[in-house]
Amino acid sequence: MPPTTTAPAVAVADRVSAFTYAIRNIVAEAKRVEATGTRVRYLNIGDPIPFGFRTPAHLVDAVGRAVRANDNGYAPSSGLWRAREAVAADFTRRHLPTDADRVIITNGTSEGIELALTALVNAGDEVLMPVPTYPLYTAVTAKLGARAVLYPADPEHDWLPDVEALGRLITRRTRALVVIDPNNPTGAVYSDRIRRHLLDLSDHHGLPILSDEVYGDLAYDGPVAPLGSLNPDALILSFSSLSKAYLAPGWRAGWLAVGRSPRLDPVVAAIQKLADGRLCSSGPMQYAIAPALTGDRSHQEAFCAALRVRAELTTRRLNAISGMRCVQPRGAFYAMPRVELPPGASDEDFVLGLLRDTGILCVHGSGFGLPREDGFFRVVYLASPEELSTIYDLMADFTDRFLREGRRA
Ligand SMILES: Cc1ncc(COP(=O)(O)O)c(C=O)c1O
Repeated sequence: MPPTTTAPAVAVADRVSAFTYAIRNIVAEAKRVEATGTRVRYLNIGDPIPFGFRTPAHLVDAVGRAVRANDNGYAPSSGLWRAREAVAADFTRRHLPTDADRVIITNGTSEGIELALTALVNAGDEVLMPVPTYPLYTAVTAKLGARAVLYPADPEHDWLPDVEALGRLITRRTRALVVIDPNNPTGAVYSDRIRRHLLDLSDHHGLPILSDEVYGDLAYDGPVAPLGSLNPDALILSFSSLSKAYLAPGWRAGWLAVGRSPRLDPVVAAIQKLADGRLCSSGPMQYAIAPALTGDRSHQEAFCAALRVRAELTTRRLNAISGMRCVQPRGAFYAMPRVELPPGASDEDFVLGLLRDTGILCVHGSGFGLPREDGFFRVVYLASPEELSTIYDLMADFTDRFLREGRRA
């Protein structure tokens, strides 16, 4: 029988509508612009590889060796013991004593986040997360039928979180506190005072912290110690991966470590139970984790130096654009500038206008939970300084026209 076009489309679950991830959702519009013959410069996603950065050779060798040796079967659901040991030893070296049996190897930080939230949060519960936030946290929280409660970070104070405001948002439904340091999407690196305050709140309210440390080695003034190193008995789950600081985002090789407090024992068991259901994270890639954490890391110095140059260039060039302000990023590869929007315009109008006029693809601040009328947008500054310079020339011209014409998309 030929397919019928009159029958109604298959309905999808309601929860899908709340699951938004602007960083990729916006690509559909970029593809339309590309189809008209315009060159699109993708500054929407934090992937160093398309910009010419290379995965360290010893990690590529480790994965290649594993595949050729036919290590292509399922791994244990919590991960290869050697990889778990290497993660535990790395945390321990960074003053967060960790046992390998509290480590779970995941498909990137992303799967760790999903496993942890699934283990901790019931429908109707609340999860505290910063705004602007990395949108996977809001998306997964929505999927679980829980509520994201956003605590503000302040662009007037280097995008540091307002910990007093955060404290006032804790209720009896709060089940977890998300901390992202160094931060995506702002490039902020938190002070020790703030980190200690977050730990105090967690301690006082018995609230587990989900500590996203995927940019920990990409702070320009030196690596950020794991949050748990300030108090190894804190209720902390730490997440990271090979994606950013080891330049292998496509491998989906990540890990989570649950703090040593016995109060977290049920959480370890719950996560392990959930991890069983997806069998294992990608097998051969796990063979790169021990070489990454115990071997040569000289690429990180070169990468951080390259990022610092780009961060400085970005801040200088964006602050020179009339009507735009940008806080200097201290780590990762993101800046979150603000443009003074004309009345009635939204951040998305600006970003879509920029895309259609110049082919430059950024992500609007409301995709990270900020009010659409505030005019924030995120720039990924992984391109070469020369290319970034061209991009900021185009952005300056467009912004000038946009603000003069008071344009809507
Ligand atoms: C703050 C943050 N957490 C998690 C992730 C996901 O990383 P992974 O590739 O390890 O899943 C990203 C990716 O951009 C991120 O910026």
